[in-house]
Amino acid sequence: MNAGIIGIGRYVPEKVLTNFDLEKKMDTSDEWIRTRTGIEERRLAADNEDTSDMGVKAAKKAMEHAGISPEDLDLILVATVTPDRPFPSVACMIQEEIGAKKAAAMDISAACSGFMYGLVTGKQFIETGAYQHVLVVGVEKLSKILDWNDRNTAVLFGDGAGAAVLGPVSEGRGILSFELGADGTGGKHLYQDQYVKMNGREVFKFAVRQMGESCIHVLEKAGLNKEDVDFLLPHQANIRIMEAARQRLELSEDKMSVTINKFGNTSAASIPLTIVEELEAGNIKDGDLLIMVGFGGGLTWGAIAMRWGR
Ligand code: UT7
Repeated sequence: MNAGIIGIGRYVPEKVLTNFDLEKKMDTSDEWIRTRTGIEERRLAADNEDTSDMGVKAAKKAMEHAGISPEDLDLILVATVTPDRPFPSVACMIQEEIGAKKAAAMDISAACSGFMYGLVTGKQFIETGAYQHVLVVGVEKLSKILDWNDRNTAVLFGDGAGAAVLGPVSEGRGILSFELGADGTGGKHLYQDQYVKMNGREVFKFAVRQMGESCIHVLEKAGLNKEDVDFLLPHQANIRIMEAARQRLELSEDKMSVTINKFGNTSAASIPLTIVEELEAGNIKDGDLLIMVGFGGGLTWGAIAMRWGR
């Protein structure tokens, strides 16, 4: 039995914060942010809108897209480093709100790689036949853990949510191969200590190396080549890091998905947000080979080769 995405949805908050807005708040410029990161604007959740609220909205859309009801869910996995509170988990809060009475629920802490960790975890339950439907949500309200006086980090991140329903799909479709990894020795380069703290250059070097390697590894594991790739969906952290991964796969520009300009780095939400963007634009078609790849705090990384469709 193969597991694949049978429905997907997203939610981003209404409030837009542009680079020009940031220029008024701190010593930065639109020019610096755009050229160094590719970001033009990001979304910010309202004060009374927490991580679980955004996750619920994305989850409902994903279930509607999949054509299933909340009672059909066996498990809810929420990838987040910005839970409403340490416990109950965001997954349990979403379970209550959507009425997924039969579902088990837990959060996954793998920072920006969280959505990859969630999909791979959910896949195991489906492929063993233990569960039919697993909801995987990637959601962050990073704005609440940013130091708005630190231009090194404050300009990079945004809030948002993406959710996917995993279920059994036909042979040759769904998740074909994956790679997950961690290197705790690099944890000191990106962590939360009240606010997000980051050694940007170290994370940059790690990301460029790891994204490229992981993409190649999942292709090899699936017995596929660079030429087989229809779409690269990288974690949206920095356009220069994403470009390095694209070049490693020797893909043309139109084969890499870019949403960082609109949403900034939304951590665990960035890959599902981006998949929805491409689906809505009609760019991802049934049977396409997608490579998803993420990296983040931990340090962690994860990549998936997926044949789109049910
Ligand atoms: O999801 C994973 C999360 N993290 C990442 O993916 C981050 C990976 N790293 C990066 O994306 C890049 O390292 C950054 C975008 C964070 C920084 O870009 P950089 O090209 O590595 O710049 P830098 O840190 O080497 O800084 C260059 C200069 C410095 O000034 P000096 O020392 O050369 O005078 C910084 O102080 O840019 C300055 N700078 C800024 N200037 C204007 C740093 N942040 C800003 C800013 N506005 N927001």
